[in-house]
Amino acid sequence: MYSSRMTRIVTLAKRLTTPLLPDDYLTLFNPLLTFDSYRARVSQINEELPGVRTLHLRTARNLPAFRAGQHVRVGVDLKGVRHVRSFSITSAATGMAARELTITVKATGQGGVSDHLVHRAVTGDIVYLEQASGDFVLPAELPDRIVMIAAGSGVTPLLSMVRTLALAEHDTKVTFVLGARTTQDMIHRHELVALSENQEWFDLILWPSAALGHFNRAALLREIPDWQSAQTFVCGPAGLLTHADSIWRSQNALERLHTEQFQTRLAKIDGRGGTVSFAKSGRSQAADANTSLLQAGEAADVLMPNGCRAGICHTCVVPLKAGKLRDLRSGELHGEPGDMVQTCINAAACDVELDV
Ligand code: FES
Repeated sequence: MYSSRMTRIVTLAKRLTTPLLPDDYLTLFNPLLTFDSYRARVSQINEELPGVRTLHLRTARNLPAFRAGQHVRVGVDLKGVRHVRSFSITSAATGMAARELTITVKATGQGGVSDHLVHRAVTGDIVYLEQASGDFVLPAELPDRIVMIAAGSGVTPLLSMVRTLALAEHDTKVTFVLGARTTQDMIHRHELVALSENQEWFDLILWPSAALGHFNRAALLREIPDWQSAQTFVCGPAGLLTHADSIWRSQNALERLHTEQFQTRLAKIDGRGGTVSFAKSGRSQAADANTSLLQAGEAADVLMPNGCRAGICHTCVVPLKAGKLRDLRSGELHGEPGDMVQTCINAAACDVELDV
């Protein structure tokens, strides 16, 4: 990540500055400078809809190039504890290192990172970024035909893809289905409508589900008759993805379907929970059968690693020391000592111990 010369300077600086580390000094001079993470300043905030904001995050040093569709982990310090959440990048991918990116955040009402960024963050605040990741990306070699289907916040990675395409010369024809409960609820609608009016390669279908019902197989066949010739990117809640999977699977066309889920469909679990013990912190928390291990840890003020909170990114994985778990998506019982378990989609099925 750093040049060898920079590495030598950092090493030397570490010797000279002990017990304070170089980061401490750098922070004194400029709160954006750090060698260990990408600190970013909130440089601009755009209010998109009630409870939805776009934040422009500007770093002091270049962020590695990202690909359109990838997500980035964003950390904020709340009451002295670093909380981290993954967000799709919405800005265009230029293929080059850059010092600014944007994320569009929807408040969840659960009081975490999203709610902080939407309701309390102000320009000038400092947040922490990690290198972008994810394989839900615009192909490096563009196909002739692309279909994008987004519901709710699922628009965010697809918007990055569209913005990236808008900067490039290409022969790709794109049809974008933008879904939400009502037209007024559609995030980034105005930008996408403007693009559809100005760019021949881009068609937009607005799909207010309260009026039209869900975008289903019949709608797909009617609105996009050539869908089978396209590479299709779908992002939205679990129900949309499950439906898309069944349509493409029935046509033996799954290799042309690319999906990203931002919400997990959880089963309603009947059963007992248990006490979750956190071995390293010495804390414990009673949790019912529908409370994730992650939520239990946070309720006990244990620093729990997490990212998407939806079973996708595997950031929340910790070792299980004892007890049985229940998968909150399927209700399935599982767990042996030593298993690495995703805390965001598992709950205690009895008293359990985690090595965190
Ligand atoms: S937080 Fe992403 S998988 Fe659990």
